[in-house]
Amino acid sequence: MASKRTQLDELQVRILKDGVTPELASAATQLVFGDGNADAEIVFIGEAPGKNEDQEGKPFVGAAGKFLNEMLDMIGMKRADVYITNIVKYRPPNNRDPYPEEKDAFLPYLQEQLAIIKPLLIVTLGRHSLNCFLPDLQISQVHGQPKRYQGQIYLPLFHPAAALYNGNMRETLIDDFTTIPIIMKKIAASAAVPSLITDK
Ligand code: URA
Repeated sequence: MASKRTQLDELQVRILKDGVTPELASAATQLVFGDGNADAEIVFIGEAPGKNEDQEGKPFVGAAGKFLNEMLDMIGMKRADVYITNIVKYRPPNNRDPYPEEKDAFLPYLQEQLAIIKPLLIVTLGRHSLNCFLPDLQISQVHGQPKRYQGQIYLPLFHPAAALYNGNMRETLIDDFTTIPIIMKKIAASAAVPSLITDK
């Protein structure tokens, strides 16, 4: 069996070969597939690359990414310990919200990416990412609450870009984010005591 890294590399090549969202692809500088540890226990999923990400080819390298790095630092983790990606892997022109059909086009590839990594926890950043997995939940109501759905545990968080310049949301995001180590301990324990994490 090929390593997770090799499988991810092959998936990245396949996205290019399959010509996913050709209009986005032709307007973008490059595909922004994902970054970090292929064997990570935690995967962060944002919405779509912005200008900096489009230029560098890596997710979350602009202002929101700097904030994400700071929060990782607060819980004693580095980017190299986790895996970071987006639903949509090309920058939408002028940073507009990705269209539903663009998210739908990338969803099977995102699912494959996650099936390769098999994280213990998926952290969704913002409502697009949350609703991609749990369409009937509202970020304002469930942020910071781990949810188990079809055997996978999700932690919905506010998007760092939205929280960056909004004092209250920023504080809430930091409070939610800093529970990640506790949630990871609960996940380890919940193998023995499944009721520690409630279903959605
Ligand atoms: N916002 C996102 O959702 N993803 C990025 O990669 C950067 C900003």
